[in-house]
Amino acid sequence: MPSKRPRRLCRCGRLLRGAAAKPQLQGRNGVGCGGAGVIVRWGLRELPGLLGELGIERPFLIASERWSELDLPAVGRWNEVPSHRIDEIAAAAEGADGLLAVGGGSAIDLAKAVSVATGLPVVSVPTTYAGAEWATNFGIRDPERRMQGGGSGADLAGIVYDPDLSLGLPLDVTVGTAMNALAHCAEALYVKGRSPQADVLAIEGARTINEALPRVAAFGEDRQARTKLLAGADVAGHALGLAGLGLGHAMAQAVGGRYGLPHGALNAICLPAALRFNRPVAGEEIARFAEALATDDPVGRVQELALLGGFERLRDLGVPEEDLDELGHAASQRGGAKANPRQAEPAEVAELLRSVW
Ligand SMILES: [Fe+2]
Repeated sequence: MPSKRPRRLCRCGRLLRGAAAKPQLQGRNGVGCGGAGVIVRWGLRELPGLLGELGIERPFLIASERWSELDLPAVGRWNEVPSHRIDEIAAAAEGADGLLAVGGGSAIDLAKAVSVATGLPVVSVPTTYAGAEWATNFGIRDPERRMQGGGSGADLAGIVYDPDLSLGLPLDVTVGTAMNALAHCAEALYVKGRSPQADVLAIEGARTINEALPRVAAFGEDRQARTKLLAGADVAGHALGLAGLGLGHAMAQAVGGRYGLPHGALNAICLPAALRFNRPVAGEEIARFAEALATDDPVGRVQELALLGGFERLRDLGVPEEDLDELGHAASQRGGAKANPRQAEPAEVAELLRSVW
């Protein structure tokens, strides 16, 4: 049923919602699309107010069992995460007027797929650093086809960050999802969709993640450090939403989709190879990334941060060497490879994968 709420469009033409539709609040950082219209709040206690601002009275919750003890407003819930049963979830959500996703990238991507199927707006409560809450596109793994599919066009309405929800996050997920966020920053600086606005967010995200991640990896219960890391992931995700993905992500998605391996760990391993490959054409942008990381050796620094989670080589994750040619081909066909500043032939991508195997 069409909404009677007042509507306002972003200057890029996208629909703005709730408070973001007020001119004085347009976009949290004064930026345009890829996140303008998304209202951001900090602290789970802000969730009911945010839902009210968005006019969502009957949210349908998508969250794994892990979050079953949280007191969340919901008229129904789906707790198989990840899942590829989008039609069933859409049917279960009938009668709802919004989707509430609580969890990491898998829960939020699932909600985005259901948003596309139903037209319902998504409010995300991210519990990792992956940044899925900022990108309208999403990945859904089809276990039978052993590949990562997905789509785009989700209606992103709001985000609530709460560092308390990340306090118990295991080390590998902490470092993996933070490295995913760092890869969003690196790639936002040189992909075809880059912009001055995304650059500012990407630099801020890279600097913040670089400072906060070692502390969080050493002291997982340090709330202040977790808060800083989440703030870095917030702007990194926003940069991703504005600019899009590059070759490092295409490699990570091709490998992750095939074997069901974690996206963050794969980005941690693939980003150094993508940086090396792109350096001849994006030296200046990579130098800016290096400056944000306070280093002359961005590849070395990324590897150092990845090692905090034990991420070093694809073989450690069980990727078979004989599959690398095929994976190189699959990665070269992905959107991230096409948005990359340097075109990568299948054999070149296979060689890059071999370099981190
Ligand atoms: Fe990512």
